Amino acid sequence: MLRTNTCGDLNVHDVGKIVKLAGWVQKNRNLGGMTFIDLRDRYGVTQLAFDMEINAELCDIARNLGREFVIQIVGEVIERSAKNLNIPTGEIEINVSKINVLNESKLPPFTIENKTDGGEELRMKYRYLDIRRDPIKNNLILRHRITSKTRNYLDLKGFCEIETPYLIKSTPEGARDFIVPSRVNPTQFYALPQSPQTFKQLLMVGGMDKYYQIVKCFRDEDLRSDRQPEFTQIDCEMSFVNQEDVLNTFEGLIINLFKEIKGIELSQFPRITYKEAISTYGTDKPDIRFGMKFVDLTNLCKGTEFNVFNEAELIIGINVKGGSSFSRKDIDKYTEFIRSSQINAKGLVYCKYNEDGSFKSSVDKFFNQEQLNNWSEACKSSPGDLILIIAGEESNTRNALSELRLLVAENLEIRNNSEFAPIWVVDFPLYEWDKESNRYHSMHHPFTSPKSSDIDHIKNNPNDLIADAYDLVINGNEIGGGSIRIHNKEIQKIIFEHLGFNQEEARNQFGFLMDAFEYGAPPHGGIAFGLDRLCSVIGGKESIRDFIAFPKNNSARDTMIDSPSYINHEQLDDLNLKLKN
Ligand code: AMO
Repeated sequence: MLRTNTCGDLNVHDVGKIVKLAGWVQKNRNLGGMTFIDLRDRYGVTQLAFDMEINAELCDIARNLGREFVIQIVGEVIERSAKNLNIPTGEIEINVSKINVLNESKLPPFTIENKTDGGEELRMKYRYLDIRRDPIKNNLILRHRITSKTRNYLDLKGFCEIETPYLIKSTPEGARDFIVPSRVNPTQFYALPQSPQTFKQLLMVGGMDKYYQIVKCFRDEDLRSDRQPEFTQIDCEMSFVNQEDVLNTFEGLIINLFKEIKGIELSQFPRITYKEAISTYGTDKPDIRFGMKFVDLTNLCKGTEFNVFNEAELIIGINVKGGSSFSRKDIDKYTEFIRSSQINAKGLVYCKYNEDGSFKSSVDKFFNQEQLNNWSEACKSSPGDLILIIAGEESNTRNALSELRLLVAENLEIRNNSEFAPIWVVDFPLYEWDKESNRYHSMHHPFTSPKSSDIDHIKNNPNDLIADAYDLVINGNEIGGGSIRIHNKEIQKIIFEHLGFNQEEARNQFGFLMDAFEYGAPPHGGIAFGLDRLCSVIGGKESIRDFIAFPKNNSARDTMIDSPSYINHEQLDDLNLKLKN
């Protein structure tokens, strides 16, 4: 080994030891008589000391070492006179007797320090240098710990990790597929899996009973801070279970991860139905770390000369604790936000509950103090609070107030990253109506079972069917989703009909699964967690990119390896592909 110790583990108990260390030059300080170098590796930083009077030649070599040179040293651990108690090795330094330069380095394009001067694009291009910095390095180590604890937990519960193929056929998760042309089957294509959904169900038919896999999934969809075109799932499936069994098993996994990784004891996760989530928070991924629940004011607010309210399908408000101190400018900013093209609401009405008990609203012309008092009672507001109200078409209004609620909470700093509030959202509708294609789409995927109580009237109104489907949401992020599956081929047939597949289309796409279901498919269900999102929530950061070693940028590019890229004509010919002129 080139080293006896790492740069993170020496302390005063090691004083007097002769050690060998290897690592990167983080900093080089020439103080005339003495030169100090901070030597860094994955484990920490150790100070190296060179005394001009003791060994001028060695000191000279040290002074000329550039940032990020890779060196090996031999030396004695000595106690420092000026101690740095902020780092574990800060009480010692190494009195170096030998240096071996293992490799030189060009000057890095940004400083490799916790607070770097490099912008995100530059750091993505030189990701291998970014990984040397603590914030990214620690995130990758956190990710490793999460996957390793997940494997331990699931192994102990009897789950078997099984790999499923990547070169497959379109999977039914609803995004666009990434397509791979087949050379040996000209004009034919594989699709990369959006998830291993169909394979894990086939493993259940195969009797594997409890499966999991930490697996890459591929979805060609627009990128956001919580979306990457390739991401990782903790994908799980179990046989002979109902929804309660699945929720309990995987709530156990999440509780165990928070305990082991963060030392936090989470109590039993609350549950909310999809319907309640939408009416209370305007979203199926509610952040329940703070209140500001929606209050329906539709009946209370109609019947004056204020036509915006009279014409509205829905009028809803939130009570902002202490919000009466918001300035005119603050409220204007929120109004601008909800009117922006991404939110598209018409306007914002406010009502301040002044400390003296009076009310001041933006619609004082139309509503008297008594009416405003009624709003305030409905919203349970107290003096010093502010009610924010949006009115309009139902779904857009809910969405707008949901976004506003998050923004206000963000600004009030009540979305605390060190607090964790998981919640199960259950009872999703089986379908959603898609206006564009004029047909039903599965809200989860077409193998999701309707609730057993709905199966008897499955042929009635598809719109009313509720699914045995569930999501795990933590701090407003959808961390996982799953369902109990259909294992009865007659029900599966009806679902395909509702979804507008004719027999032939259903056979073409999912014939292999329907065939398998002819051979004794057990009742089964499962869930998949988004590992990248789980890491970012546990790590208290917004973007999943920070937890992926080599992520793609917002245009789905890897700027480091410059991909995607053109391929040459021979490759195109081999694949029977032609580029459009
Ligand atoms: P679903 O599509 O809900 O379910 O995906 C499961 C979880 O994967 C994460 N996720 C993503 N993470 C990062 N980037 C993306 N583009 C992305 N898309 C999804 C989310 C999500 O909750 N086969 C089903 C699971 C099942 O039914 O068992 C499935 O894939 O955290």
